[in-house]
Amino acid sequence: MDQALRIDGPASLAHPTISVLHATPRLSGHAAGGVNSLPDFNVVNDQIMTASEKPGPWPARMDLLQSVSGLLLGLFMWLHMLFVSSILLGEQAMWTVARFFEGYFFFGYGLPWLVSLFVASIFGLFVLHAWLALRKFPAQWRQHRVYWSHMRSMRHEDTTLWFVQVITGFGMFFLAPVHLYLMMTHPELIGPYESADRVWSGMLWPLYLVLLFLVELHGGIGLYRLAVKWGDFSDPASARRKLKRMKWGFTVFFLVLGLVTLAAYIKLGIEHAPHVGEPYVPASMRVEP
Ligand code: HEM
Repeated sequence: MDQALRIDGPASLAHPTISVLHATPRLSGHAAGGVNSLPDFNVVNDQIMTASEKPGPWPARMDLLQSVSGLLLGLFMWLHMLFVSSILLGEQAMWTVARFFEGYFFFGYGLPWLVSLFVASIFGLFVLHAWLALRKFPAQWRQHRVYWSHMRSMRHEDTTLWFVQVITGFGMFFLAPVHLYLMMTHPELIGPYESADRVWSGMLWPLYLVLLFLVELHGGIGLYRLAVKWGDFSDPASARRKLKRMKWGFTVFFLVLGLVTLAAYIKLGIEHAPHVGEPYVPASMRVEP
């Protein structure tokens, strides 16, 4: 190779196309063929730039922001699943968790707008993360075809995982806002009967079922890729194997927990259907007629 392939900044580590260029002589030969006239070039987010066109610090900054927003969303989703699954401990437990986030045990009464505020901030983070991720979608049909054939010929698992992340992210882009909007505009309707009614009588269970698979696959792969990208390992190959096992462990655990939780809401929703719309009131607060 008479020209140097320079890959700058953490953006390069995030992008599988760059590892493609790096890893396979056949593909790098193909890439090099297209830029033979360039004595020196950088590859940043799919764009080949000459040394004089060096990008500023923004691609790396946006990459860091995407990692941080993804990390926060991934950790939030694990906590979210634990809180939502409180229904498995009973109606009273789920009611307690829901009222806790309204500040009920702090103020002596619930302030549902606190939940709206929190949902709005998660929504904002979600939009930011999706917007930053859009930069890395293979945008044109030709890019898709090239990527697909590279993926099939290489059979490289991490490349396949990246593709799964693109597909699941695309799906969440449409489904998650429906859920977030409902949570933001009706935070007072979060409770054991209220949620169960929404899931069953409100017909949200098909959306939750699909969203659950999307979010657990996307989040698990995303956190794994973050660890591979930013982690400093003395033996990267064995660290990768261990991280992959952990990733599958978390994904399966949260998928099973999510499915059992969804089944519990569906069961409660069917039982409560004759009284749909009636909120849950804890036994200690019930006023007998
Ligand atoms: C602060 C923001 C959020 C709040 C307050 C919230 C709250 C809830 C609640 C109360 C439920 C129970 C069902 C219901 O009441 O409708 C639920 C279920 C669910 N949520 Fe969220 N959620 C939030 C964000 C998200 C996000 C960002 C996602 C995914 C991108 C998500 C995915 C799901 C899924 C998949 C279920 C079904 C759970 C299962 O299958 O067991 N949620 N959420």
